[in-house]
Amino acid sequence: MNYIILGAPASGKGTQAELLSKKLNIPHIASGIILRENINNKTELGLKVEAILNRGDLVSDDIVIDLIKNRLEQGDCKDGYILDGFPRTIAQAEALDGITKIDKVIDIVVNDDVAVSRITNRRMCKSCGNPYHLEFNPSKLEGVCDKCNGELYLREDDKEEVVKDRLKVYHDQTEPLKEYYKEKIITIDGIPSIKQVTESIFKNLQI
Ligand code: AP5
Repeated sequence: MNYIILGAPASGKGTQAELLSKKLNIPHIASGIILRENINNKTELGLKVEAILNRGDLVSDDIVIDLIKNRLEQGDCKDGYILDGFPRTIAQAEALDGITKIDKVIDIVVNDDVAVSRITNRRMCKSCGNPYHLEFNPSKLEGVCDKCNGELYLREDDKEEVVKDRLKVYHDQTEPLKEYYKEKIITIDGIPSIKQVTESIFKNLQI
């Protein structure tokens, strides 16, 4: 059960990875969440990558490959895992092939307009990274994470001008992974409701 969730910014990768993780009882590993944790904790790595994330560029392959390699060596990954946001370049996918074997790649497809509109309504937990949507997936208590009581905030890279750059980076550097993984890919329409998208993923994975 080694899965990758692919998709544009705000396609719903984090939302669906979390639901799949609960269903299968395997960890959800999100490169973006790990990087933002480092930024919030002002670690050496965090200070190095903060400006890169804020302008919507990709962190260098070496840095993220190292992060993910270390994470996959932890004991909780022994029965499988869900990678969200990694790999994002062909070089990262090739490095991953040298570390582990991927069973399925779940590609959540939305158009750019949907991505932009979702991002502007997203609020994210500062502590655990769980995403909410002001309309479609609100927290029970405004501004407070249901899972850990953390503070909800608007990500620096969720501002409209940065979102356009993130979408361009996605189309240029990450979309080619669809061809790379063509033997393993499951294509999921990401436009319907969160519940319908989840059902479609579970049905395709026969779980
Ligand atoms: P990362 O955190 O991975 O950002 P991303 O790929 O842009 O993805 P998002 O977190 O924006 O969206 P998502 O698809 O998870 O959507 P979500 O579920 O939140 O990366 C951030 C940055 O870190 C990168 O730009 C880069 O700088 C760096 N980085 C990370 N990994 C890297 C790597 N491997 N290499 C190099 N650099 C890397 O949903 C979005 C919103 O929509 C939420 O509000 C949600 O509630 C709502 N929603 C979800 N599904 C639905 C639905 N079906 N209907 C209605 N609303 C929905």
